[in-house]
Formats: sequence, C-alpha cells, structure tokens
Amino acid sequence: MNLMLLAGFLFATLLATAEANTEKTIFVAPPPTTIPDAGPSFDNLNLYSLSPDHLSLRLSLPVAFPSEEQPRGLDSWYLLQGLSEAQRYEVRICWAAVQPTSFWLDVYDITHVFDTPDLITSLAAYSEDRTEQFASEAASRLSAGSRSILFLHVRSAGDFFTTNKTLMQSPPAVGVDIILDPYLANIFPQSLVPTGAYIAVLAVGSWLLSGIIWKRLFSGSKQHVD
Ligand SMILES: *[C@@H]1O[C@H](CO)[C@@H](O)[C@H](O)[C@H]1NC(C)=O
Repeated sequence: MNLMLLAGFLFATLLATAEANTEKTIFVAPPPTTIPDAGPSFDNLNLYSLSPDHLSLRLSLPVAFPSEEQPRGLDSWYLLQGLSEAQRYEVRICWAAVQPTSFWLDVYDITHVFDTPDLITSLAAYSEDRTEQFASEAASRLSAGSRSILFLHVRSAGDFFTTNKTLMQSPPAVGVDIILDPYLANIFPQSLVPTGAYIAVLAVGSWLLSGIIWKRLFSGSKQHVD
C-alpha cells in the first residue's frame, strides 16, 4: 500500500515537472581572470550575478517575437562568478509551459565578449538599460583580484500565436528561474542528487519487494502442489 502511495507521489512529481520547460548549457569553469583595479569595472555593468553562494535567480524576463533585426528575441546578460577552475557546471532556465517561449543560453569568457563586436554591443546596451531602470539595486559587486568569471548571455523570444493583437504587439514578460548547478565529481548535477537517491531507494525497494512476492508465489505454488 505504501508503495502504491509512493508510486503515486512519483507520478505526481513527474506530472508537476512536465508543466515546466527547461533549457540548459553545460560548461567547465575557466582559470581565474585577473581583474585590474583600474580596469573596466564590472560593478558598473549592473548585472545580476550567480555564484556558488547565490545559485538561483527568479526574474520576469521581457520577450519579443523573432524579427529580422532580432531573430532570437531580446538579450539579457548575467555574471557567473566565484566559480572553481576546471569544475563542471550547468546553467538552466526554467519557465512555465503556459508561457511558450524559446530561450538560447550561451556562456562566454570575458575576453571573447570584449573581442566580439556583436556581443559587446549587446552587453553594453543591456547594461545601459539596467542602469537606467534599477539604479543601484542588485548590482553585482566584484572587487579587484583574481576570479573565475563568465558571462551568461540569454536570448528570449515569444513562441506562440494568438489573434489578440495586443498580445502579438507586446508579448507579456515570462517568469523564469535561472539556476547555476555545480556537478558532483564533474559527472552529476548537484541538484539532482535527491532525485538520484530517491530512484536508488525505489530500485532497491522494488528489488526487495519482488523477492518477497516471488517467495510468496513460490511457497503458494508449493502448497498447491502439496
Ligand atoms: C487581449 O489580451 C489582453 C492582455 O491579456 C487583454 O487585456 C485583452 O482583453 C485581450 N483582447 C481580446 C480582444 O481578447
């Protein structure tokens, strides 16, 4: 009976997850970058940041429908900081399935962004918007020194069609969670450990149960034979 409850619970959990969508990218943290005292300041970028001390962000992301100018919708930029060199991580973005959206996630090192005109232009534009909108709120603070840092570039485009013109002209912002997930021993996302343990318990449980059932069946048929 308990097992039935457990199976029901697992099923409900699966259903619940099925209603959210996920896009992710996996990367290995680079060697530390030295941030000069008087260099371009990351503080002034006003980006949200993710780090081992702050593994998730809940945001409302504006989207646009794909256009010739912006084939992948609107850009947003985040800092991934305090990473451990050579450690594998994944970054996920999760959103409700009732808000159909396409997301593209890319992780770049600082030099690559600064050396690629399209990227630095996009970062500068986003940073300027953020600075105007949110003056001093939630800005990431990076002191000079040596850190493993990456930029996360997210593009979000509306992915639905409706006859409602208001909605087609300005698709509503999408509620998202952006999650940084370190891999354990570089092979298994840390946040999946409870699920992994759960599946292992379930597997051992059903193995034991099948043993019991087998015994009962066996002794049952023996009695029958007798
Ligand atoms: C279109 O969508 C907007 C926003 O959800 C809503 O306020 C409006 O009533 C809708 N218009 C029609 C004609 O359904």
